[in-house]
Amino acid sequence: MLHWLLLAHVSAALLARDSPYSGFNDPNVLGGSMLTIVNNTYPPGLGEPLNVILSADSDPAVLKDSLYDGGFQNYMLSVHLSTQCLGAQFGSTQEANLDGHTNVTEIQTLRQNYGDPYIGSCRETFEGGQHLRYWKQNDTGAIFMAVSVEMELIKGHDIIPNGYNVGRDFLVGNVTSLPAPLDGRNLTNTSTFVGSTRYRNYTYNTEVRYVGGLLSNSSADINHYLTVEEDGMPAIDGLVAVFTVSITDRPKGVSAAGRAGASALVAAAALVAALV
Ligand SMILES: *[C@@H]1O[C@H](CO)[C@@H](O)[C@H](O)[C@H]1NC(C)=O
Ligand SMILES: *[C@@H]1O[C@H](CO)[C@@H](O)[C@H](O)[C@H]1NC(C)=O
Ligand SMILES: *[C@@H]1O[C@H](CO)[C@@H](O)[C@H](O)[C@H]1NC(C)=O
Ligand SMILES: *[C@@H]1O[C@H](CO)[C@@H](O)[C@H](O)[C@H]1NC(C)=O
Ligand SMILES: *[C@@H]1O[C@H](CO)[C@@H](O)[C@H](O)[C@H]1NC(C)=O
Ligand SMILES: *[C@@H]1O[C@H](CO)[C@@H](O)[C@H](O)[C@H]1NC(C)=O
Ligand SMILES: *[C@@H]1O[C@H](CO)[C@@H](O)[C@H](O)[C@H]1NC(C)=O
Ligand SMILES: *[C@@H]1O[C@H](CO)[C@@H](O)[C@H](O)[C@H]1NC(C)=O
Repeated sequence: MLHWLLLAHVSAALLARDSPYSGFNDPNVLGGSMLTIVNNTYPPGLGEPLNVILSADSDPAVLKDSLYDGGFQNYMLSVHLSTQCLGAQFGSTQEANLDGHTNVTEIQTLRQNYGDPYIGSCRETFEGGQHLRYWKQNDTGAIFMAVSVEMELIKGHDIIPNGYNVGRDFLVGNVTSLPAPLDGRNLTNTSTFVGSTRYRNYTYNTEVRYVGGLLSNSSADINHYLTVEEDGMPAIDGLVAVFTVSITDRPKGVSAAGRAGASALVAAAALVAALV
């Protein structure tokens, strides 16, 4: 029995490795979508691009949706993105289907906090700015994000011109501490960036790879495409920024949890080798 359990564990890991992408599975291949599900769009059925992925090859601590222990919310605070204004969900939520089975409601929306982690996100709620909805991919643990820059509330929170690409590139520029925002028109499926941020004594080193093939370079099925298209370009460029994060420094006295999954797998493989 133990023997079979271990074999199942090892072959699941080998299967995942057949994917052309490392650290997540392509929802399109599974029957899901890289566009979110939004209610009441006109015409119906439009969605927003999942344009950033935190790969499961990242440190296990940052993949946990937590404000503590160096978790995802602490990482996002290192780039001035906070949970909702006064804990309330202003505006509607969206869903995503990352596994081909279930439409899952977003975990929550994070908003630009203008340097104030306590009530700064209220400012974004009314003035507009960068915001991010996120989901966890069940089978891999990767975090998928729909990032964009929206207009002020009075304008109905439409997305600004080129606001999906710009939202993604602001996030890339911030997590890698670039001196100036990226010029999105220069990005290709070979662009890479690396750099660090720090919050509450956790230092996050982020490697970014822009990848093609997950979204299309077009306006088809994109929510708010009329306000987003700019200079005759499609609403999105089709690139997804894949982040792989390592935690290179922690508060004194906190030790790395270690790659529990990876080491268990190595142990399992060794056991299987011993058994067969
Ligand atoms: C969309 O509308 C349906 C029916 O009113 C509702 O059940 C669902 O929760 C809504 N989805 C979201 C993401 O708000
Ligand atoms: C999931 O969303 C898709 C796209 O909007 C819709 O066609 C489908 O009916 C939804 N599935 C369920 C179970 O609600
Ligand atoms: C994936 O998520 C859905 C919805 O949250 C849940 O019902 C399902 O059990 C999960 N599947 C796995 C394999 O964790
Ligand atoms: C970081 O994000 C903010 C918006 O939240 C943006 O104004 C700024 O230009 C970004 N910085 C870089 C280097 O991209
Ligand atoms: C983008 O490309 C243009 C044309 O090749 C170049 O002039 C510009 O300096 C580039 N911008 C950045 C930020 O690399
Ligand atoms: C970060 O480290 C400094 C220097 O060791 C310490 O004074 C400070 O209290 C720490 N802050 C947090 C939030 O752990
Ligand atoms: C990258 O883009 C080029 C030009 O659009 C294309 O020919 C190539 O197949 C792409 N490569 C990948 C890995 O997506
Ligand atoms: C997207 O398509 C436009 C033409 O519509 C082209 O100029 C641009 O280079 C393409 N972007 C990428 C990332 O392939």
